[in-house]
Amino acid sequence: MNLVTEQTATVLIVDDNPANLGVLSDALDQAGLEVWVAKSGKVALERVKYALPHLILLDVMMPEIDGFETCRQLKANPQTKDIPVIFMTALSDTANKLEGFEVGAVDYITKPFQQEEVLSRVKLHLKLYDLAAKLDQKNTLLEQKVAEVSQAYEDLQQMQIKLIQSEKLSSLGQMVAGIAHEINNPVNFIYGNLIPAGEYTQELLHILRLYQQEYPNPTPRIQTQLEATDLDFLQEDLLKLLNSMNIGAKRIHEIVKSMRIFSRVDEAKMKAVNIHEGIDSTLTILNYRLKAKPEHSGIEVVKEYGQLPLIECYAGQLNQVFMNILANAIDALDEYNQQRSFAEIQKQPSRISIRTTMISNEWVAIHISDNGPGICEVKKAKLFNPFFTTKPVGKGTGLGLSISHQIVVEKHGGNIYCQSTPGNLTEFVIQIPIQQRIAQVA
Ligand SMILES: Nc1ncnc2c1ncn2[C@@H]1O[C@H](COP(=O)(O)OP(=O)(O)O)[C@@H](O)[C@H]1O
Ligand SMILES: [Mg+2]
Repeated sequence: MNLVTEQTATVLIVDDNPANLGVLSDALDQAGLEVWVAKSGKVALERVKYALPHLILLDVMMPEIDGFETCRQLKANPQTKDIPVIFMTALSDTANKLEGFEVGAVDYITKPFQQEEVLSRVKLHLKLYDLAAKLDQKNTLLEQKVAEVSQAYEDLQQMQIKLIQSEKLSSLGQMVAGIAHEINNPVNFIYGNLIPAGEYTQELLHILRLYQQEYPNPTPRIQTQLEATDLDFLQEDLLKLLNSMNIGAKRIHEIVKSMRIFSRVDEAKMKAVNIHEGIDSTLTILNYRLKAKPEHSGIEVVKEYGQLPLIECYAGQLNQVFMNILANAIDALDEYNQQRSFAEIQKQPSRISIRTTMISNEWVAIHISDNGPGICEVKKAKLFNPFFTTKPVGKGTGLGLSISHQIVVEKHGGNIYCQSTPGNLTEFVIQIPIQQRIAQVA
């Protein structure tokens, strides 16, 4: 619909009677309207192909194509269907008037014409047409605005999800780093002192043995005490005990180190890091879920690390991605095993494989796969959607993979995708550029 202003409004008069044409066009012309004329329905239909009038005055009785047919054709054409049509008919013709409305006319005027009436009806319908066109425009505008607002709302929601999650991640990272820091000192204290403690013990035992050799006949008081204490057992067990304390302290030391590598809160900037360290620290943190327990069998982890250079990245965030993917694999394997018999599990034990490779001089890939239940095509299509989860309420949030996607794709200019053969294998592949300038170019 095009807008009408009264000054520029054009009216097409269609009539086979030259006298009628003359009278009408004079009257409309004097009222300041632009008038086009057509002597038949056929000419009128041709005319509207080149330019659209704002209103059409249409005679009913015409040779060849009559007014009704002309009107039908106008209404059938999307270009002309909105142009208001006013029929011109003889005073007595009620049936004609009805048919006129049926084929889509907005009004009729009767012959012989009353100039005043014609003018006011024409003006009224031009005005109506104009208002309808304006309403149409406003509606379109409103629809656009509604679409914009709902898009903005959706964006906001996504943003909030990401904010909440990154907030959670960073506070979790800070907590892990804090704990690691607090444990670090006392552990180093124990770890550091265990070595001299071992040496002192050895020396004391040595002196004891020397005493026994030099003084083979102890006094009765010592003799009684020696009988009460099984000295040989004590010597042997003390050494074992020190040894296991050593192993324990070493293990705590490793875990603390992993926690620090994992959280990397001190590194808000991109840094070139060894991603194998990141994967290993994540595995250490997840170790309690990989080990065999009375209620479930363990998960074997097979690592196949390629020769990779240092990768420029947000290490803490990338570790979060490894964590999400590995935790999902463990969840999937655990659930799978609950449905499998002991024999089935024995035949095909749970396994997670981690493989890293260079794809080119500029890109590396990390493949993390599990031999769990697999993912069907329908679920695969939704994996990276926020809130998509198949886990019970309280266990899954459905955010792990959507956050991982955001970290890999948006923060690092990389790719992440999943390939799966249901009942056999699920593999997540992360591809990232070694240097971030390459991500910008790509
Ligand atoms: N290794 C996998 N094997 C089978 N299904 C998986 C695996 N990894 C992810 N999924 C599916 O993807 C869904 C979404 O994962 P994620 O975004 O981490 O959310 P969540 O773990 O909270 O459910 C999971 O609920 C699960 O159905
Ligand atoms: Mg998850």
